[in-house]
Amino acid sequence: MPKQTMTKKPKIKTRKKTLITHVPGMHDILPKEFEYWDYCYSIVQKYADIYNFLKIETPVLEKTDLFSRAIGKETDIVKKEMFSFVDQGKEKLTLRPEWTASVMRAYIENGLSSLAQPVKLYSSGPLFRRERPQAGRFRQFHQTNFEIIGNADPVIDAEVIFVAWNILKKIGLENVVVKINSIGTPENRKEYIDVLIDYFNSKKHLLSAEQKARLKRNPLRLLDSKDEKLKGLIADAPQIIDYLDAESNEHFKNVLEYLDEVEVTYHLDHTLVRGLDYYTRTTYEFVTFNDTKNEYSKALAGGGRYDGLSEELGGKEIPGIGVALGMERIIDEVKENKIPVKRSKKTDVFLIQLGELAKKKSLKIFNDLIEAKISVQESFHRDSIKSQLKQADKHNVRLSLILGQKEALEDTIIVRDMISGIQEIVPLKNLADELKKRLKKPVVTKKEDK
Ligand code: HAM
Repeated sequence: MPKQTMTKKPKIKTRKKTLITHVPGMHDILPKEFEYWDYCYSIVQKYADIYNFLKIETPVLEKTDLFSRAIGKETDIVKKEMFSFVDQGKEKLTLRPEWTASVMRAYIENGLSSLAQPVKLYSSGPLFRRERPQAGRFRQFHQTNFEIIGNADPVIDAEVIFVAWNILKKIGLENVVVKINSIGTPENRKEYIDVLIDYFNSKKHLLSAEQKARLKRNPLRLLDSKDEKLKGLIADAPQIIDYLDAESNEHFKNVLEYLDEVEVTYHLDHTLVRGLDYYTRTTYEFVTFNDTKNEYSKALAGGGRYDGLSEELGGKEIPGIGVALGMERIIDEVKENKIPVKRSKKTDVFLIQLGELAKKKSLKIFNDLIEAKISVQESFHRDSIKSQLKQADKHNVRLSLILGQKEALEDTIIVRDMISGIQEIVPLKNLADELKKRLKKPVVTKKEDK
């Protein structure tokens, strides 16, 4: 007999693969987070309806030119924060860093100026900015954005502010104020910027290298610097309000009067220039405010008027104004303030199945009950009655349905009252009606039974 040789199995070296993780600054929104998102979105949606905003969705990708023209080449967003790339067809594209430019493009391109004006549009969705990730600052974040396009009346400014104000209040955020300013027309701004440059140039020795560069590139943005050392200098700086033309002045005065009328708490802030170039006249931010410490912290929303944006994008002269709510920051505040968001979703019935045939039939029964508008839960993957009853208890249901082999064959089902423990056999064809009848009856506890 030939000698049997044992062949050694070759050892396959398996190298442990590195774990692929998320892109920094971008986040998964896990199921448990949706309690907060659903709570906030339900209020946002309600107010969008109350104020007659129509929903608009634009593509996540746009031509890069749209944002560089609308937001401004010298802004931080366009200069260093856009996720831009050249695609296979050599087209320069950018993941949208904000909604306003896209909504205005869509308004012009789709001829929405032929509708009754103004047109009120709102959108919700993700935006992308390659900012340095930190608390409350992400590379992918979400805004709910409101725009009113086609009217320049100051009452519209107040309306937009009031919508956002109402939403934040309804969500339960009490510690919010509106910082507000007017940056006038581009002509007013030009004159003001010259004066501002002269002012900061006379204090150049007090500026850091980065601040000096900013003074050259975008002098207005020196005003919203967070640098403590610059605070005094900014407080003494010339104020834009002194450079507004008569019409812009009147417009601003009217906006404030309307806001007084609806009791919106606002703080005038001459340094609020905002980081996007398209703004004209009214600008604002909704900021959390601690009045005992006299301290502002999180900007939850921001916006302003942009009467020159349409022309910048090649359209006709059309005024517009809007506000964007930063959803992550709002949700963060909801959590911090422990605002209750859970709406109790009550389940009335739990369906238990035992055996192969019952399992097969229970899918259809479950669906029939949903169609009959009975709130029902199941645990199809569990087989033992004990573990399914435990689930029924967890859901705190009034009735459990038990479908065993016998019942499945006879087209019946056991209905168990979870409080009294009483069980009855019911024909499957009458099940929904029977359950509705029982669920209507007042709850009888065992104690009362005795
Ligand atoms: P914005 O001030 O750039 O304005 O953004 C509005 C809000 O979005 C901010 O107040 C903040 O809550 C949130 N947000 C901005 N960047 C981030 C980020 N990196 N991470 C988390 N949240 C962020 C605009 O976007 C304008 N388009 C608003 C507007 C609408 N103006 C007129 N109409």
